[in-house]
Order: sequence, then structure tokens, then C-alpha cells
Amino acid sequence: MISSFLENEHKRYSAKLSEIVADLRGGSFNREALRELESDVKCHIYVEETLLFPRFSYESRRELNGLEMEHGAIWKLFEIIEKAFLNGDIDLALRRSESLGRVFNAHSTAEENLAYKELDSMSGSNFDFLSVKKAPYGWVCRILRKK
Ligand SMILES: [Fe+2]
Ligand SMILES: [Fe+2]
Repeated sequence: MISSFLENEHKRYSAKLSEIVADLRGGSFNREALRELESDVKCHIYVEETLLFPRFSYESRRELNGLEMEHGAIWKLFEIIEKAFLNGDIDLALRRSESLGRVFNAHSTAEENLAYKELDSMSGSNFDFLSVKKAPYGWVCRILRKK
């Protein structure tokens, strides 16, 4: 089922982020792990915003606006963490990574309840695109896109 596939992705990202946070608490920053996670999460957001959310009716899509705001917050937090690291501010990188964990987990729960369950009932849908591994170069989530 598509909902379990997506929920497993949430769990995998959350676990990866916990490892990054644990490293930061120990004073080290796994930049490669952060970059990999950022790329995976941005791809996940790309799939949601361009391929999954448009399948919902206009009424429920209004409810999805809140989820898209959270995508924007998640997106920005990755950039802030990377910048904190480049400035050598491990403490800020840790605090923002902890914030990212909270935002991400709350977002995942809301999304699973609001959107994913309904996707399972959209019978006849082709979900082959879930094999997408990377967001297109330069793609930005809707809320942060320049109008
Ligand atoms: Fe999402
Ligand atoms: Fe998601």
C-alpha cells in the first residue's frame, strides 16, 4: 500500500536525523549524512507536492496547504543547519537539528492522518513514480517559490 511505503520513508528519515543529532551531541557533524538526508527529504517533498497532492479534490487540497507550509519550514531548517556547520557553530546546528526532528515528526503524523490514508483508496492509480530518487535540479517547494 502506498501509505505504508510513505510512512516507512518518514520512519527512515526520522531515524537518520536522530543519528545526526546524536553525533552533534557528541560534538561531531556528519555532513555527508545530512546532505544525503536533505536530498532524500527534498525528493519526498517533490513527489508529494507535484505528484500526490494534486490528486486530491479542491476542498481537501486547501487542508494540504498547512502541510506545504511545513515543507517550507523543513526545507529552510536544512539550509540553516548546513550554514551553522559552515560557520563552525555546532551548538546552533544541534539546536536546529532538534527543531527539524520535532517539525518533521509532527508533519509526518499530520500527513499520515490527513493525506496518506486517502491515497490508498484512490484505486487504479499508478504509483510507479515513487521510484523517483531525486528532485529535479533547482526545484523548490511551493511555499518558498518566488512568485
Ligand atoms: Fe510532506
Ligand atoms: Fe511525507
